[in-house]
Amino acid sequence: MQSWQPQTSRLYQTGATLDKTPGRNRPEIAREQQVEQRIHHAGLAGKIMSAEEAATHIQPGMTVGMSGFTGSGYPKAVPLALAGRIEAAQGRGEKFALRVLTGASTAPELDGALAKAGGIDFRLPYQSDPELRARINRGEIDYMDVHLGQVAQYTWFGFLGKIDLAVVEVAGILPDGRLIPSTSIGNNKTWLDLADKVILEVNSTQPLGLDGMHDIYYGTALPPNRQPIPLTQAGDHIGEPYLRVDPAKVVAVVKTHAPDRLGRFTPPDETSQRIAGHLVEFLKHEIRMGRLPENLLPLQSGVGNIANAVLGGLRDGGFSNLTAFTEVIQDGMLDLIRTDTIRMASATALSLSPEGVQEFARNIDHYRERIVLRPQEISNHAELVRRLGCIGINGMVEADLYGNVNSTHVAGTSIINGIGGSGDFARNGFLSCFVTPSTAKNGAISCIVPMVSHVDHTEHDVCIIVTEQGLADLRGLSPKQRARTVIANCAHPDYRPLLQDYFDRACRDSKGKHTPHLLGEALSWHERLVEQGSMRPN
Ligand code: COA
Repeated sequence: MQSWQPQTSRLYQTGATLDKTPGRNRPEIAREQQVEQRIHHAGLAGKIMSAEEAATHIQPGMTVGMSGFTGSGYPKAVPLALAGRIEAAQGRGEKFALRVLTGASTAPELDGALAKAGGIDFRLPYQSDPELRARINRGEIDYMDVHLGQVAQYTWFGFLGKIDLAVVEVAGILPDGRLIPSTSIGNNKTWLDLADKVILEVNSTQPLGLDGMHDIYYGTALPPNRQPIPLTQAGDHIGEPYLRVDPAKVVAVVKTHAPDRLGRFTPPDETSQRIAGHLVEFLKHEIRMGRLPENLLPLQSGVGNIANAVLGGLRDGGFSNLTAFTEVIQDGMLDLIRTDTIRMASATALSLSPEGVQEFARNIDHYRERIVLRPQEISNHAELVRRLGCIGINGMVEADLYGNVNSTHVAGTSIINGIGGSGDFARNGFLSCFVTPSTAKNGAISCIVPMVSHVDHTEHDVCIIVTEQGLADLRGLSPKQRARTVIANCAHPDYRPLLQDYFDRACRDSKGKHTPHLLGEALSWHERLVEQGSMRPN
């Protein structure tokens, strides 16, 4: 293998040189050149082709593993070309649909385009695209919601069938054929290892300063041959900075120039600031009680506006020298890294707003010293989450009196996004905290309900529930004690008397049973929501 100088050296230099041939400096030509200068393997350079040509390798019925995690590092061109191919086939009356597996959610160019074309039969593991979600909830697409930390091993176990083809975005290709990963790793290692064929997209817009920020661990094995994973600190590098691929499997290399399409976060409002305030107060209390060190334990912060806003609260809470062992770095966490409140963060993906992307690119040398991006089978690994003692902070849809949590469904039936990695951290972390405003949809919905309409995290995995009303510490409490705490501390005042009344009647009618419920009434709040658009009684 040829040696490669990681970070800064060769790719930076070649990327800056333009061809002096007259007419060659037109922006699109310069862009093409810049991508070509990222492809240093002669054999793979010989496989450069258009996205349309590459898409012809994808046949109906295939299982395709694609890169992409919470809107970053997904392929930008082949899925769009594929959608065109699918539409044309369907125009001819031919069925053309695929099983599509990714790291997590992608973007309109992938999930949106393929769903709209009717090209997805089956999808896993996490999604957030409106078009895809609508089709899943109309029953047109089978969707399997699975813990993100489990996807790689399920694939290796053979639970998900054969991977026919992988489509993976990378930032560059080294002379020896290894790949500089992009802004997310997700399940790319698994797709590249297991797929029969591989299509690579080399994206000129992904910063070359990413080189050296990744840590790909090749030491996983199948039971009974597994060995301990040698990671004891969030920032440990236990693998290598590049993804491996067998060049013989690569059927196409496609040049792309489109940035990740990322959304904006809702700026923290009074509600999210109050949630953050309760959590900060609680964490400080835990330090005083000697249950947490001054710099806490590695933080995991979930997706969504509320989890993002809570991180801002940690910055203002006076903490320092923190670490994160999480799956996604959103703007809130980037800000903590920028200000050195967090000194080291491990994740599998960046999921930044356009402003966050600019900040990241501007100060990429600062971030490269403080961020490690890993495969999601490692970032979310039960063994590591437990060893490090992560503090999981995740958003939720609703919680019930006893602390069961629904992270995924509206009224028990319509999926929003998926469980993501929340279960990997809730079950295995040192503390599992779930955060939500106490009401949704202008007060029409109480996020604290008698019984959750769908269970993602059982009462056994939930330590702390926080709303803007307050914090319920459920550790060491029996079901009835939990119910009293959740009602008193987390319920909105408009719904608190209703919950208290439900619980009192349930206790009375159940005659001392362990977990009091009125079975005929437990889901009546959701029934009212579905029938009348509100959980409020008439
Ligand atoms: N019933 C119905 N809808 C509800 C609801 C409830 N109890 N609670 C929230 N919602 C709706 C909101 O109204 C909002 O809808 P809108 O987009 O139409 O306005 C949407 O859910 C998002 O709510 P928001 O308050 O903005 O919270 P969020 O952005 O923090 O997202 C989750 C909350 C639960 C959707 C999000 O955290 C999630 O997908 N979690 C599961 C995955 C996960 O935890 N991953 C963690 C590891 S990365």
